[in-house]
Amino acid sequence: MTVQSRSPERLVHVPLGDRAYDILIGPGLLARAGGEITSRLKGRKAAIITDEHVAPLYLEALMDGLQTDGIEAVSLTLPAGEKTKSFDHLATVCDMVLAARIERNDAVIALGGGVIGDLAGFAAGIVRRGVRFVQIPTSLLSQVDSSVGGKTGVNSRHGKNLLGVFHQPDLVLADTSILDTLSPREFRAGYAEVAKYGLIDNPQFFEWLEKNWQKVFEGGPERIEAIAVSCQAKADVVVEDEREMGRRALLNLGHTFGHALEAATHYDSARLVHGEGVAIGMVLAHEFSSRLNLASPDDAKRVEGHLKAVGLPTKMSDIPGELPGADVLLDAIMQDKKVKGGKLTFILTRGIGQSFVADDVPSSEVLSFLKEKLAK
Ligand SMILES: NC(=O)c1ccc[n+]([C@@H]2O[C@H](COP(=O)([O-])OP(=O)(O)OC[C@H]3O[C@@H](n4cnc5c(N)ncnc54)[C@H](O)[C@@H]3O)[C@@H](O)[C@H]2O)c1
Ligand SMILES: [Zn+2]
Repeated sequence: MTVQSRSPERLVHVPLGDRAYDILIGPGLLARAGGEITSRLKGRKAAIITDEHVAPLYLEALMDGLQTDGIEAVSLTLPAGEKTKSFDHLATVCDMVLAARIERNDAVIALGGGVIGDLAGFAAGIVRRGVRFVQIPTSLLSQVDSSVGGKTGVNSRHGKNLLGVFHQPDLVLADTSILDTLSPREFRAGYAEVAKYGLIDNPQFFEWLEKNWQKVFEGGPERIEAIAVSCQAKADVVVEDEREMGRRALLNLGHTFGHALEAATHYDSARLVHGEGVAIGMVLAHEFSSRLNLASPDDAKRVEGHLKAVGLPTKMSDIPGELPGADVLLDAIMQDKKVKGGKLTFILTRGIGQSFVADDVPSSEVLSFLKEKLAK
């Protein structure tokens, strides 16, 4: 598995046997979507699912491109935001896809961020027991994370992402110029996941990001490179562990603390968005690892220094408003995790790019660590 060069475009292949697919990364892919789809899929019909922020910017260009290549497309524009990842909206999407007479070889196309991708992917996985699925991710987070790997789903009142299926896409088109209209805050949040791939097991990539992050933000070849490296990293993990039985858990670096902070702020995006929680969570994971004498405190400082430089929050006190106490945060962590005999599974690290799954972390250690951090 290598990142192949078709300058300036990149191709990452995800070799999953009869579910194998390509991820194309580069500028201008939206306009070429029709050709890329017709060269891979037999069907000539598509149902596009998008949201109200993305539709006015990109829907027409996509529809025109599809039409040029002989694909008959209909579209559905949903409200933007996490609340759209609901069972009700899933029903609406399925109904629309069936009304459009999408057959198994036709495609559902997700044009949007992770919310649209997860929702449309779930619909594609269950309509007629599975129709073709094309991801056109439009946020940085969705380009480097959610569009790759086949996890789809919606939220339930019992929690996030509790309903869903594994349904791999047949094609991912990550048009890097589309990111120019993303808000700086959403771009930074997605960048936290990019940095995560360096921190998991690629210290050279983290070092490269420390030097090149401004160019990633500005666009140009460094942006394409960072997205390609991230997609390759995610693809490697997915191929090794498609259904998250082991290694895929490493992708949760920073997410245990991050999810607890998201829950503690009631998923209020005005206070904290997912990538920001992950940024704070990754710093906490490094600090916690150093507290357990697994890693040097200098590594935690280095992670904090970089994320702060790009403008991400790095401390719990960076979150506006009151946070609950350490016991409430620990409670949220325990709800998010399997707990065995008071021991928790955590992604810890021995240093930059040396993360590992630890399944014997005493909850009492986590509690005293959180108390200490909240007191500062
Ligand atoms: N399936 C997976 O493996 C996986 C992995 C990580 C995250 N997720 C899910 O992804 C979701 C978060 O994704 P997200 O951060 O993309 O959120 P999102 O889909 O809500 O997009 C963020 C915001 O940016 C807007 N937007 C998107 N692209 C834009 C563009 N090009 N120009 C202007 N505005 C644009 C959206 O309308 C939205 O308001 C969560 O629901 C999370 O659970 C899934
Ligand atoms: Zn994440």
